[in-house]
Amino acid sequence: MATWHKAVLAATLGLAMMSVGGLAFAQSADDHIKARKDGFQVFRVSAGAIKKVVDDNSAPSGAVAAAEAIAQQAARQLQHFPPGSDKGNTKAKPEIWANWAQFEAGMKDLEGKATAVAAAGKAGDAAALKAAFGAMGGACGTCHKAFRAD
Ligand code: HEC
Repeated sequence: MATWHKAVLAATLGLAMMSVGGLAFAQSADDHIKARKDGFQVFRVSAGAIKKVVDDNSAPSGAVAAAEAIAQQAARQLQHFPPGSDKGNTKAKPEIWANWAQFEAGMKDLEGKATAVAAAGKAGDAAALKAAFGAMGGACGTCHKAFRAD
């Protein structure tokens, strides 16, 4: 690639990144609250789909897509908890920001446990799937107990 071409490319990329950053910055706390609730609904619907596979004792591979959806959403969820977004139409407790490392660890834990559910599904191991699903549900409950208002 010609040098000038590289420079143009770098400048374009830089601009694109700036505008993405600008947009994220312009998002209000209300937008973040809405976005994270949408993300938690992905958790809820996907967990329901996995539960159905476990309860019906159907092919474990049927749980893989939903488990991967949870893991992927968990990796994106924290960006929607900017400081100050404990105000408004939300059940997020202020403890989240006072104990950020613990909250972050809770979301990482869920990501790992959802990945384990996907692995059990891929392995076609129904007993492992059931155990991994139970452990994943524990990650949801632990965080809600500490950080979500009733
Ligand atoms: C690391 C913490 C954490 C983990 C892990 C977590 N949640 Fe939550 N969840 C929250 C918080 C905080 C809220 C409140 C969000 C708000 O009201 O702004 C919430 C809200 C919800 C809601 C309500 C969303 C709405 O529309 O108001 C559902 C449903 C939900 N979670 C399901 C789950 C499920 C299912 C899992 C596990 C697969 C899970 N959550 C894992 C912290 C967590």
